[in-house]
Amino acid sequence: MARQLLIAGNWKMNGKRDSLAFFDEVAPAAGASAAEILICPPATLLAAAVDAASGASIKIGGQDCHANSSGAHTGDVSADMLVDAGADYVILGHSERRSDHGESSASVAEKAAAALSAGLTPIICVGESEAERRDGRAEAVVAEQVVNSLPKATDGAYVIAYEPVWAIGTGLTASLEDIQAMHGFIRGRLPDGEKTRILYGGSVKPGNAAEIFALADVDGGLIGGASLKASDFAQIIKNTAV
Ligand code: PGA
Repeated sequence: MARQLLIAGNWKMNGKRDSLAFFDEVAPAAGASAAEILICPPATLLAAAVDAASGASIKIGGQDCHANSSGAHTGDVSADMLVDAGADYVILGHSERRSDHGESSASVAEKAAAALSAGLTPIICVGESEAERRDGRAEAVVAEQVVNSLPKATDGAYVIAYEPVWAIGTGLTASLEDIQAMHGFIRGRLPDGEKTRILYGGSVKPGNAAEIFALADVDGGLIGGASLKASDFAQIIKNTAV
């Protein structure tokens, strides 16, 4: 079964209401693409982004969710709330959440189960640090993260995003050989590897997206910096027309 390419933008802690013009600018490229297009704005813009993207072939996702559906968790957002706002996806276990908020793979697994039962598709992020790669531990670290971050005993499709930490926001990308090797390695560790989409993330931009997404085990990208500028994101979509 062919896996549909997923081109996902992660706005991180960027974007205000005046950023919503993005959707009109990207809509023509998204509409012409066979890929699935997703934008994950900050929580404050979720509902407005759903409105701005309506009629365009662009889905909306959250950047994190709590494992519980409601309750006394000040500052958190539940998977049910993301669904209520119109989201289809949620990014979980991004390396910035693992480092800024001490998120463990076990908590990512719980959040992923909550997301699936709420009807969201989780995008579960994994990736090694520069030191871990230098020490030859990249595969071991990523394998450990994958195994422990997957939702337990829950049916439903999830997406994996492989994002080497040293390539995020740095302008550095892993070599095509290293990306393909790690994606193949991850696929071999997934219970439903052939059906599961594995995205690459880390300084994807218009100039390198097509060659990365063409790799056999790369099913799209999770794009930070280059998703903030509509013209760059639209160019990535156009360059990777399938
Ligand atoms: P980047 O971020 O494209 O700016 O490197 C990717 C990510 O962190 O998802």
